[in-house]
Amino acid sequence: MKVLLLGSSGLLGSEFLKILEAQEEIEYVAPSHRELDVMDFEAVDRFLAHEYFDRVLYCIAYTQVDRAEIEQGQCEQLNVDALKNIIAHRRPVIHFSTDYVFDAPKDLAIPENYPRQPLNFYGQSKVQAEELLEVSKNPFWNIRTSWLFGAERENFVSRILKIARTQDSIPVVTDQIGRPTYVKDLAAFVFEHFVKKEQPIGTYHLQNSGEPVSRADFAAFLLDKMNWMGELQRVPYEQFSERAVRPKNSMLQNTKLPFEMRDWKEATEAYLALPTTVDQ
Ligand SMILES: NC(=O)c1ccc[n+]([C@@H]2O[C@H](COP(=O)([O-])OP(=O)(O)OC[C@H]3O[C@@H](n4cnc5c(N)ncnc54)[C@H](OP(=O)(O)O)[C@@H]3O)[C@@H](O)[C@H]2O)c1
Repeated sequence: MKVLLLGSSGLLGSEFLKILEAQEEIEYVAPSHRELDVMDFEAVDRFLAHEYFDRVLYCIAYTQVDRAEIEQGQCEQLNVDALKNIIAHRRPVIHFSTDYVFDAPKDLAIPENYPRQPLNFYGQSKVQAEELLEVSKNPFWNIRTSWLFGAERENFVSRILKIARTQDSIPVVTDQIGRPTYVKDLAAFVFEHFVKKEQPIGTYHLQNSGEPVSRADFAAFLLDKMNWMGELQRVPYEQFSERAVRPKNSMLQNTKLPFEMRDWKEATEAYLALPTTVDQ
């Protein structure tokens, strides 16, 4: 078996790289952005022309949700056109998508086949990517996930921890509900069940398990663990001025796999216990 990891410097991709580096059964290649720019279609064609990969772990994406509203072209080129070029080479792809493809009613645990209705351009580009995969003849596993946190890149958890070091009051949205996902858990789960084993092709929902939580309660959980003494302001979503509209419901339901990742509380505690986490 041979794996191609793309996006190995990112929040999720860096965890796949650690897993691949620590094992010996599977051969892999993980070119950096500088070594292989997926927007250089000819370079990608040359790279893929002579090598077969049993899995492409596609962790590349344009992920700046607010900036995507003004850089729509760049977002679409990376999230859609670059993927299209890769799948033209007919290599089995593991692609990552998002809860932002939905605008589901409050309290609904969103199944994989729920109709897509993105509220922002980033979500729209991910819908386009999913549609590409679905009409291609290429084997694919499209994994929708949400609220990623981990060590390598800025994310909700690192932002809250950073703000808590300098401020004694933090505003956080009360009415966005979902489940956080620790990238270390997601990468390990995908590696075990989608790389080393084979699942039927299609779309899957993967988050850490446990009770759904609002952004504000998740922040409260983090701040409590840090013994922060400040004030958490619980603010309705409408009072936040963000360029891109976000869905209020990010509760993804896994209806396909008979196993799940650990509870987000346990995962978050494991992350916070890492010696480097609080200094980020
Ligand atoms: N973050 C979340 O909360 C979240 C939630 C749901 C779903 N997802 C999905 O999960 C996947 C992984 O997200 P992430 O947060 O780990 O992404 P990320 O941290 O933003 O990483 C993106 C990766 O893409 C690489 N990249 C960008 N442009 C490239 C190019 N032209 N050629 C080659 N590489 C390029 C980046 O490399 P350099 O930075 O080195 O240039 C980086 O390694 C994405 O599909 C995302 O949509 C993320």
